[in-house]
Amino acid sequence: MTVLFDSVGCLRSFSMNNHPHDCGVIARYREYLNVTDATPVVSLSEGSTPLIYSPKLSALTRGNVYLKYEGLNPTCSFKDRGMTLAMSKALERGATTVLCASTGNTSASAAAYAARAGMSCVVILPAGKIATGKMVQAYIYGATVISIEGNFDDALRIVHELEKTGKFVVVNSTNPDRLEGQKTAAFEIIEELREAPDLHILPVGNAGNITAYWKGYREFHEGGRSRILPMMLGVQAAGAAPLYHGAPMDHPETVATAIRIGRPASWSTALEAVQQSSGSFDIVTDSEILAAQQWLAKSEGIFAEPASVTPVAALLKYFDSKNPFKTKSLQNLIHSNSESRATSEKNPFVDKIKEGMNIVLTLTGHGLKDPDTARHAVSEPLQTEATMEAVLKVIGSKL
Ligand code: F0G
Repeated sequence: MTVLFDSVGCLRSFSMNNHPHDCGVIARYREYLNVTDATPVVSLSEGSTPLIYSPKLSALTRGNVYLKYEGLNPTCSFKDRGMTLAMSKALERGATTVLCASTGNTSASAAAYAARAGMSCVVILPAGKIATGKMVQAYIYGATVISIEGNFDDALRIVHELEKTGKFVVVNSTNPDRLEGQKTAAFEIIEELREAPDLHILPVGNAGNITAYWKGYREFHEGGRSRILPMMLGVQAAGAAPLYHGAPMDHPETVATAIRIGRPASWSTALEAVQQSSGSFDIVTDSEILAAQQWLAKSEGIFAEPASVTPVAALLKYFDSKNPFKTKSLQNLIHSNSESRATSEKNPFVDKIKEGMNIVLTLTGHGLKDPDTARHAVSEPLQTEATMEAVLKVIGSKL
């Protein structure tokens, strides 16, 4: 195997199964993953996503806040990191059909990587609860899409029943290869900051990602690549918060459909991540999520889907009183109902967030995945006749 750095500093390790131009997760972190020269690498050059400094969240928290923008992966979510490994290993084992339950992003990613691998893909989705962009992705990549009259938890149960037939390889995060691939996000953060952050905040649904990050942080810590381990803060939607409440929920409900999950499969490992790291779980309401989505887009120029902005919503909630950037309309949106006020109570964990800390937030998926939900922030264009004077007049009335 040859190892070298390319012009943009991406570490590439080539083997027989990597194309020289592949800079995906397996190429970059081969030695930390369960692959050999016999593994056919299925990659779309995922990973190596930007860690964007957030001046406004940094000022707000008096720390250094970075946004790991996973919406810039090939299918626009973090799922691609795990899917490259899961699909490569499935192909190595001779699989012909992959199967998953999904709230949308896993199905989009599975469909794309299956297409790339020349495998068939079946996705099982909760009817009426999949964001438009994700649904379109599953179809365009050629998956067989099955909609059930139930939620994600029902879909996952059916998938595991189907697994027993031996006809399918399941590529949900219950497949250990998925989490192995996803842990590489923690590696990238440590390499970029030259140290783990003090605090990592991310959304939690089925709880695979928090499990994977914690594994990645621990591996690099044990390997001497980082002196510290971060505190892990997992944020759930108030209406779908089994880990926060410590009990499964039969009817999870939230505008953040990606994390509309009542029985997280990786429950115990998520709990371990939070306990071992002296972290916590917290909740944010739907109105706080929508306000955070708008705030992030308008204040930092980053558009992320509703589930992805739960960490931003948590920081806005904690540092509310000190927030110099919060507009009046945003205040109204956040405090527009009693549900918001009820869950905006102080989490004792806030006291652990100290000045000068390095804080990383994972933005798990791109905002364009769910255009319909974002329409709450959209109004009609200002119409006028097609002359320069008329357009200037309209501009003048707005500025
Ligand atoms: N953010 C987004 C955008 C997601 O799509 C998901 C999960 C999560 C956060 C939560 O990650 O499940 O590892 O705790 N989406 C899965 C799916 C369930 O089917 O796409 P998690």
